[in-house]
Amino acid sequence: MSGIADRYERTIDYLRISITDRCNLRCIYCMPSNGIKPIEHKEVLSYEEIIRIVRVASCIGVRKIRLTGGEPLTRKDLPGLVSAINSIEGIEDVSLTTNGILLKQQIGELAGAGLKRINISLDSMKPERYAEITRGGRLEAVWEGIKEAEAAGISPIKINMVPIRGFNEDEIADFARLTLKFPYHIRFIEFMPIGAKEIWSEAKYIPTEEIKNMVSEVAPIYSVKARKSGPARYFRFENAPGVIGFISAVTHHFCNTCNRLRLTSDGKLRPCLFSETEIDLRSAIRDGADDHEIERMLKLAVEIKPEGHQISHERSFNHLKPMSKIGG
Ligand code: GTP
Ligand code: 5AD
Ligand code: SF4
Repeated sequence: MSGIADRYERTIDYLRISITDRCNLRCIYCMPSNGIKPIEHKEVLSYEEIIRIVRVASCIGVRKIRLTGGEPLTRKDLPGLVSAINSIEGIEDVSLTTNGILLKQQIGELAGAGLKRINISLDSMKPERYAEITRGGRLEAVWEGIKEAEAAGISPIKINMVPIRGFNEDEIADFARLTLKFPYHIRFIEFMPIGAKEIWSEAKYIPTEEIKNMVSEVAPIYSVKARKSGPARYFRFENAPGVIGFISAVTHHFCNTCNRLRLTSDGKLRPCLFSETEIDLRSAIRDGADDHEIERMLKLAVEIKPEGHQISHERSFNHLKPMSKIGG
């Protein structure tokens, strides 16, 4: 069995797991400069607990696992977790969303453990600007990580860029041009009103249509048929090895094909990135729930998955957990 249908006939076969809320960067739109008070270690799911949840999830048809953070590479022995998840029957795809800073050192082992794909967050290709947006990140480390990942055979390499007006929109064309040279998937994500409250504003948000127009000024783009459902709509320049994706996170063009559930680093199941409803899997497990009970809770999350999100500035900042806790 692959996937489980929800009330809106979407097939849920993808679980995103935030394995830590800690991060080695402090991106200005994500975190305040002094960070966010981290969850205490004992509140974070252990690898054993995560592996158990994935095993049960695979029984109800989950095929795809993405590990996110915070920054997942800051957690110890990630290759061990990847390898354990990879060997669970039914799991076909284990991937990682990372800021790339620690990638160079770890990607060899991760690839050996069965990691096939990675998504890297990169909002500027100018070293000073990158340091500014991440509050101290070293751009060179990310490039070294990307090159090492290519050498390790990781494919595809997806690069996520969040265009922010007045800050990095002058680099949209340069990011798109990367696809002329490299087989990367360059994806532009609409800046969502979630995370650091003082940074987001209507004026800084750039809708996909506008981003697309800037990309089209480089050269004409042609639609690419994507095989699997995901949040991005893909295009490419003629004869380019890479592709360009647009993730309309705010204008929500993909809710009707959304195939995912989320597990937060403190063990709460979330039916939707923007839902305030959470199912407390961690407490249930620590209170002795058996696999049937875990399965029931996973099915409940699918059952209550909302049709779409009603993202609004006020609601998301006032009620939502930070991205680093939910896992993006
Ligand atoms: P693949 O398609 O497998 O590569 O995964 P992905 O695109 O879901 O992974 P990634 O972690 O790169 O997600 C990219 C970004 O898309 C996230 O960080 C979010 O900003 C946005 N996104 C992902 N899932 C959702 C979702 O369910 N709702 C909304 N609104 N945005 C999402
Ligand atoms: N809007 C859009 N994307 C965001 N991310 C984090 N915060 C936001 C936001 N407010 C993205 C990061 C990364 C992914 C995990 O989530 O840039 O690519
Ligand atoms: Fe860390 Fe990602 Fe948040 Fe940046 S966006 S501070 S890399 S969790």
